[in-house]
Amino acid sequence: MTSDSSNPSQAAHGKFISFEGIDGAGKSTHIGFVAGLLEAHGKSVVSSREPGGTPLGEALRDVLLHQKMHLETEALLMFASRREHMAQVIEPALARGDWVISDRFTDASFAYQGGGRGLDLAKLEALEHWVHPQLQPDLTLLFDVPLDVARTRLDATRTLDKFEQEQTVFFANCRTEYLRRAAQFPQRIVVVDSTRSIEETRRTLTAIVEKLLEL
Ligand code: TMP
Repeated sequence: MTSDSSNPSQAAHGKFISFEGIDGAGKSTHIGFVAGLLEAHGKSVVSSREPGGTPLGEALRDVLLHQKMHLETEALLMFASRREHMAQVIEPALARGDWVISDRFTDASFAYQGGGRGLDLAKLEALEHWVHPQLQPDLTLLFDVPLDVARTRLDATRTLDKFEQEQTVFFANCRTEYLRRAAQFPQRIVVVDSTRSIEETRRTLTAIVEKLLEL
């Protein structure tokens, strides 16, 4: 991507929104709503997810969510899925002028593999610089809830995957790392209080997204 804002191809670029939060934070409920908002403003929207978003990424997702592995293997496979997602979905969509919504991106690796599993953040930064040296989401919506609320929501789920079966301390560490990153990147990451009603959350999301549409 060029940094020359007078370049017409840059002007055509769409925007990239990621959704984040610990399991049970309720982010997925709002993805369709935000996609609908953007479409109502005439944007063409590509909705995707990580790990996943491509045939290879979905195969990696299946392995990642169901097999135990070394924490570095887990981080590397997350970024392998992301590299494919960047090449096959995110970069082409943004170049077409589409808007991209991804259910999770690199902040999840910092939160889960870094915060949750305790992997050295410098290793994650190295992978981040390798896989997407230039690109960051234009906006990250971080859905935040206290741990007991997330646990109650998860316990209502019938089959829990490998991550969802983790103990409270794991999610506490993920949440701490998410909130640390939100403090580190306040221009990009907006913390959304996800304990409120769906209607209230939608009003907040509408205001945030409309601001991004004006930029
Ligand atoms: P999902 O349940 O939101 O679809 O996400 C799948 C799981 O993968 C979730 O528990 C978080 C985890 N995950 C990581 O541990 N690292 C990552 O980089 C990503 C994208 C997801």
